[in-house]
Parts: sequence; C-alpha cells; structure tokens
Amino acid sequence: MKTQKNLVICFLLLCILFPMKAQKADVVVNVDLGKDTICRHIYGHFAEHLGYGIYGGLWVGEDSPIPNTNGVRNDVIQALKHIQIPNLRWPGGCFADEYHWMDGIGNRNQRPKMVNTHWGGVTEDNSFGTHEFLDLCEVLGTEPYVCGNVGSGSVEEMAKWVEYINFDGESPMANLRRENGRDKAWNVKLWGVGNENWGCGGNMTPAAYAEHYRRYSTYCRDYGTNKLYRIAGGANVDDYEWTETLMKNIPNRMMNGLSLHYYIHTNGWMDKGSALVFDDNDYMNSLVRTIYMDDLITHHGNIMDVYDPEKRISIVVDEWGVWYNVEPGTNPGFLFQQNTMRDALIAGLTLNIFHKHCDRVKIANIAQMVNVLQAIILTDGDKMILTPTYHVFDMYKVHQDAVMLPLEVTSPLYSRGDDAIVRISDKVRKAGELQAISATASKDKSGAVHVTFVNVDPANDIDINCSLRGMASGSVKSGQILTAKNLREHNTFEKPANVQLADFKGAKYKNGDLSLKVPAGSLVTIKIQ
Ligand code: AHR
Repeated sequence: MKTQKNLVICFLLLCILFPMKAQKADVVVNVDLGKDTICRHIYGHFAEHLGYGIYGGLWVGEDSPIPNTNGVRNDVIQALKHIQIPNLRWPGGCFADEYHWMDGIGNRNQRPKMVNTHWGGVTEDNSFGTHEFLDLCEVLGTEPYVCGNVGSGSVEEMAKWVEYINFDGESPMANLRRENGRDKAWNVKLWGVGNENWGCGGNMTPAAYAEHYRRYSTYCRDYGTNKLYRIAGGANVDDYEWTETLMKNIPNRMMNGLSLHYYIHTNGWMDKGSALVFDDNDYMNSLVRTIYMDDLITHHGNIMDVYDPEKRISIVVDEWGVWYNVEPGTNPGFLFQQNTMRDALIAGLTLNIFHKHCDRVKIANIAQMVNVLQAIILTDGDKMILTPTYHVFDMYKVHQDAVMLPLEVTSPLYSRGDDAIVRISDKVRKAGELQAISATASKDKSGAVHVTFVNVDPANDIDINCSLRGMASGSVKSGQILTAKNLREHNTFEKPANVQLADFKGAKYKNGDLSLKVPAGSLVTIKIQ
C-alpha cells in the first residue's frame, strides 16, 4: 500500500517537473483565395465482378428473401444514397477486359456463362449486366462509369455497346435495347477505354495502347446531345513513361481523362500485411505509402502540363485504396478484407490530397464498394455493416462540388522515432515520418466553410489554432468526429456501431480563429458560417 502511495507521489512530482507538452498545430485557411472546385466525382466508387462485390453484396436477385429493389439489396441502396455517391465504375478492373457485354443482356435464364479467370476462377452467370447496372445507377441517382473491353474485345463490340446504351433513334442496337425492355437511352457519359492495359488489360506497351486507344475511342460515338467523357487507361503507380507516351501520342481532343491506379500495401506488393493485425511500423509504412499519392499526382500532372497546360484532361484515379492480405479462411481470389480506424485515416489523408490537386484530379474511385479491398460496406447474408471508411465518405460529402480553400499547415511530426526509411519501390525511398495533422477546407454554395482535420498520431491529441483568413464573422454551426479507442477498432456484424460518426462540440470560433483539440487518431470536420 505504502509503495503504491510512493509511486503515485513520484509520478505527480515527475509531472510537475517535466510537464507533458501539449502538441500544437497551426493552420491558415485562405477563405478569400478559393478558385478551384472539388469535383464531386472525386467521391466515386468501383464495383467489379469480383468475390462478393456484385453477387451477394449488391445483387441478390428479385426472388431473394433479402429486401431488394429490382434485385439489388435495399440496405445497400439506402446506405449509398446517404453518402451521395456521384459515380460508380463497372464492370472492372481486370474483369472489364474479358467481359463481353452481349452475354449480359436479355432473358437472365438464357445468358451464357463464363469463367471469371482473374478472380477465383468462379463461374459468372452474367445475371448482373448492362440493364441491371444502369437501372441501379438510376435508383442511386449516380453517374454510371462504364469501362469497355480493349484487351480481348473488338472495336465493333465497344462501338455497339455505346450505341446500345446511348442511341435514342432507330438502329439495330437501340432496337435490341428496346426488345430487352428499355425504351429510352441511358445517356452514359463516363466511358473508360480499357483497364490496366499495361497488365491484365492486354500487357501492351504504352505506344501500342495509345494506338489502340485512338481506334477504339474513335468509334465510341457521341449520340444526340450526349457527350462521352473518354477516359484512357493510365499508368501503374509511377510509370511516368506511360503517361508521357499517351500524352504525346493521343491528341488532346480525343481524351478527357487519363487514369491512374495506386494501391497501398502495408510493406509492398510482396508483403501486403493484415487489415487487423499490424504494429506501429506497419502503420507508419502504410501512412508513408498513402501520402506518396501526392508525389504521384504531382509528377504525372507535371508531365501532363507539358502537353495540356490548360488542364483540360483530368487525372482519373479510378482505383485507389488499401489492399491487404485476405481475411484468414476466405477465398484468396475474392480480396475480402476488414476495415479499421487506420483505413479511415488513410481515406481522409487521400481525399485531402485529391482536394489539394482538384485542378487536375476530377474523378476518383475507391476500390471497391462492397466486400472487396477497402470496402465501405460489408455484407454477410442478410446482414450489412458500414466500415470506418464509409463514415469518412459520409463526413466528407460536404466537400463535394465546394470551392477548395488553399491552406497551410504547420504541424508536429508523427515519426517512427528512428531514421528508418520506407521503401516504396526500387527507386523510391521515403523518411518514416509525416505531419501529424493534415487538413482540407472548402466553401459550399451557401457560403458555409467546412474544415476537416486528420490527426494520424495514434498517441497524441493535438491542439489546433486555425485562422480563417478573410472570414472574420460567423460561428461554429456543427462538428463531426470519427474516432476510436485504437487504430485497430472496426465494425463487425456483432458490433456494427463500434466505430461511427459522432457530434463534435469542442470547437470555438472567435475573430477569425477556430480552436479545437483533435484527439489522437481521429478525423474532425467543423462547419462555420
Ligand atoms: O481492384 C482489384 C484489381 O486491381 C482490379 O481488377 C485491377 O484493375 C487492379 O489491378
């Protein structure tokens, strides 16, 4: 008893002699300098025929006991509507370049089957096809983003798909669509011409793909007043030669977007790590790999600037997110992984990077929407849960189509505490540290300013002084926080609300200065008006 008392006294004495310094960060938001809009399409999603991403996750069929609308589960529809998803990319991914769309139309019982060679070798019965997808997009009020087949399809096949979907007059394809029950054209705009054509989409050289792109995209016609937004299959991570060759060989007018794919693996492709079991080193590695997205966009963007200084062609990051090892006991070809508070912080950091580059990055798609990779939704039979990453998309939806406000952040570093480096690739090595606070801000059409802070330091709360330069009046209208006891916290079918959004009341705003404490390992958004 006595020893315990002495220990407490010693501890108190130590606290007096060496007071813990509160961590502090300063942020300056330039409210009067906003000029670029954060395109809502940065908040896009991706659903591939992969594992339970479509079948079970979205599509259960009209006869399912799971409540559904035209075969798509109602719980998922409701969750997606709530976060206002702006676009949905489909049918792949690698699957896109072996998908033959004509197999997925007409009477569902008579559709031909195929083998999904990329993802588990399972039989694909084509019951979810063009009509099912485009009808779902209408129900969700989201823009469809269709990715066509360059790798194993023909120019004619792709041209006919566009005609089938978008032509309203009298034509063989438009008539076939009508026979299949859809009178009006869907007027799809976002059109991908192949996927990862340097790899699963045909293993092409950049020069060969550029030629293919020119041919395929020529015959993807604009019908009526509908203008296609043609997206070329872009680089794998830091393949700058791919970007350079495409920009050089494809005339600007033929391409609206150029894609970029980048996944975060804890320690690289060979050591993806686990979604749930990770140590501080793994955490740091995944953070450093996350902020590498900033370098990638900067370098690809610099190349594009040479050929397209007006930034007419956008960077379309149509696959991004964390890719870990599959959960033990699940099909390795189904890419099913859990999702923790770490992934929520990674999503926040990434979205902040997209905002920063919103003059060039106009579309992005997290991979993937349901049950695959960094999913925002997980399902199990008739049960559904929302992951921490879902809540980030919910928190951030206020930034959609708002004007990005440039800002500067002076933050303490979150560091691994040694001089170890993170090896991103053979060429790229980065220091094992980053700013603990990342921030982003925007002004919406009503004049409200939203500032979001991400504190990646899992141990230290950070006091923030945020000056809203150019906005003296106003008051804090609301706040939201996403936090958890530790980075490994996640939602399960037994505890679905373990990590969820909560109101945040701890912000003060006076004479243009916002002050708040952002808890360790959390995201906070404040609305000021
Ligand atoms: O999202 C999983 C796969 O990752 C996609 O099919 C492919 O495009 C990428 O390599």
